[in-house]
Amino acid sequence: MKKRLFHSFALMLALSLTACNNNDTGTKDSSQQEENSSGAKSGEYAEIGSGANLVKFPEDLEKGIVFATYDRGNIHEDIYVNNREAIEAVQNGEEIPSGTVITLVGYEDGELDQYLVMEKRTGWGSQYSPEERNGEWEYQAFTPDKEVRPDNIGRCFSCHANQERDDYMNSMDQMKEFDLGEISQSKNSSSETPIAAIPTEHWKVSEISAHVNDSKDINKEESHLKEDEEKANKIQDVLLKMYLQQYKS
Ligand code: HEC
Repeated sequence: MKKRLFHSFALMLALSLTACNNNDTGTKDSSQQEENSSGAKSGEYAEIGSGANLVKFPEDLEKGIVFATYDRGNIHEDIYVNNREAIEAVQNGEEIPSGTVITLVGYEDGELDQYLVMEKRTGWGSQYSPEERNGEWEYQAFTPDKEVRPDNIGRCFSCHANQERDDYMNSMDQMKEFDLGEISQSKNSSSETPIAAIPTEHWKVSEISAHVNDSKDINKEESHLKEDEEKANKIQDVLLKMYLQQYKS
């Protein structure tokens, strides 16, 4: 827990430095990555994020399952997973299977803003340093036109690394709690049904963030443990906002 908090703080510092000095997703970050991976001799590992082109736009997105949604201010996000096997695996305490594609569809002021995709396949990520890789996940960002959006994919890795124990996923709790029974028919992502199906008790953990200050009654036994996690989540929330801000201008 503590370690994760520290990690988040360090990340926030690093990100705020880059956010202030650097308006486009430029060179500063790659030099930072070199520093981060300085333990490795240069050239030994591939640059983190260089495998992003492996991740194609998920054309069958609409056949997927919306298992989580997020709202913060004018931002709305639907999180899709491409198959129910991933949800079943997670609910059975198994690993997320190879071939899983998770897509964040982001809206700003009601308008489609971006697609963020993470995809897991056996063997992926093995070219990266053990410190930087996110298991077997690769990441890619797409514009509303489904084109690859030039981005610093290394940032996806470094922020999602905070979720290592949840297989690099932020919305693991929602996936664990998602009621697959509710979506037997309506595969057509009218987001109402899946949203209604998400049990809200679990939202507090990852949804508490900046917007809910009075988190009424969290399970008493767990609340102590969760304090650290909430702090970490709040920090992550801020980081994410900063991250999203850079595309505003
Ligand atoms: C500053 C931290 C941060 C960065 C950078 C970041 N993410 Fe995320 N990501 C999050 C958080 C936190 C969530 C949970 C949703 C939310 O809070 O909006 C998330 C959710 C996701 C999800 C849904 C699955 C999940 O983890 O819950 C995908 C897919 C995703 N991000 C892809 C990406 C991609 C691709 C990039 C890089 C282009 C990226 N992310 C960069 C923090 C980050």
